[in-house]
Amino acid sequence: MKDLAGKTAFVTGAASGIGLGIATALAQAGVKVMLCDVEAAALAAAVDGLKRTNADVASVRADVSLKAELQAAAEETRARYGGVHILINNAGVGGGGPYGTWNDAGWDWTLGVNLMAVIWGIEIFAPMIESQGGGHIVSTASIAGLISFNSMPYNVSKYGVVALSEGLRNELGPRGIGVSVLCPGFIRTKIMDSRRNLPERFAGVRGTLPVGSAGRERMDQVAERVSRGIDPLYVGELVREGIENDWPYIFTDCEFEPLIEARFAEIKRGFDRIRDRTPRR
Ligand SMILES: NC(=O)c1ccc[n+]([C@@H]2O[C@H](COP(=O)([O-])OP(=O)(O)OC[C@H]3O[C@@H](n4cnc5c(N)ncnc54)[C@H](O)[C@@H]3O)[C@@H](O)[C@H]2O)c1
Repeated sequence: MKDLAGKTAFVTGAASGIGLGIATALAQAGVKVMLCDVEAAALAAAVDGLKRTNADVASVRADVSLKAELQAAAEETRARYGGVHILINNAGVGGGGPYGTWNDAGWDWTLGVNLMAVIWGIEIFAPMIESQGGGHIVSTASIAGLISFNSMPYNVSKYGVVALSEGLRNELGPRGIGVSVLCPGFIRTKIMDSRRNLPERFAGVRGTLPVGSAGRERMDQVAERVSRGIDPLYVGELVREGIENDWPYIFTDCEFEPLIEARFAEIKRGFDRIRDRTPRR
């Protein structure tokens, strides 16, 4: 999708981190941006900051894990800008933990924000994009959508976003809608403080892991890597380039490429083990 100037984008999780980086990079290219987030104060501050650069931006508060709120946000966007050409399904939480820490609230929260909101975003916005003559959808998964370790609910949600994006790319391409999946490595954001936005109905999510546990140590390492992570605006600029050039996968760096190659090799070995057999039917 070339010539982004004058188009309209809807960005979820836009008050912070990667979402704000994407909203900023799109606004810098002359895109009108509706920023959507659950955190009202951060959202207001983000929009104020962008308006000071003369960007054409507006905001709508919504908890994207509630379909009705996402639908209402879409209606508000249509009323403000007439339609949408670019959808960025980015809101996400670092919910759930390793085996032994799971509970239903953790799974529901993580899958609700990270996966169901992406499914609903596509359901609600793709027809709007199509009626505008086409456009582009980017959904934020993670490297954890391609290799799985440690936090299963998070990984399951992100594998889901990758599966959805890969399949939809084939279905929506012929309808004039490009589909990309963003798989970031460690980005310097507030993801490790996701509980600041924990909706009350998921209040049963487990607390922090015990000091000294293997899971706790792993989480501390992740937090340390995130705090030294890649600049979110750099990620936003990559996403803009990915939209302009219709990249299927948008990566932020190559740190985890060897682990993904190792996964592919293990899958290949699974085929090799049974290659010479004739399946009984
Ligand atoms: N930071 C990383 O290292 C990293 C790596 C891979 C993937 N990601 C993914 O990037 C995306 C953005 O996260 P981030 O790292 O910028 O974290 P962040 O916490 O800085 O930003 C996430 C934003 O999503 C919003 N949000 C949370 N729950 C919401 C809800 N129910 N409804 C609407 N908005 C909600 C938050 O208020 C926040 O503004 C997420 O999908 C995350 O899983 C992040």
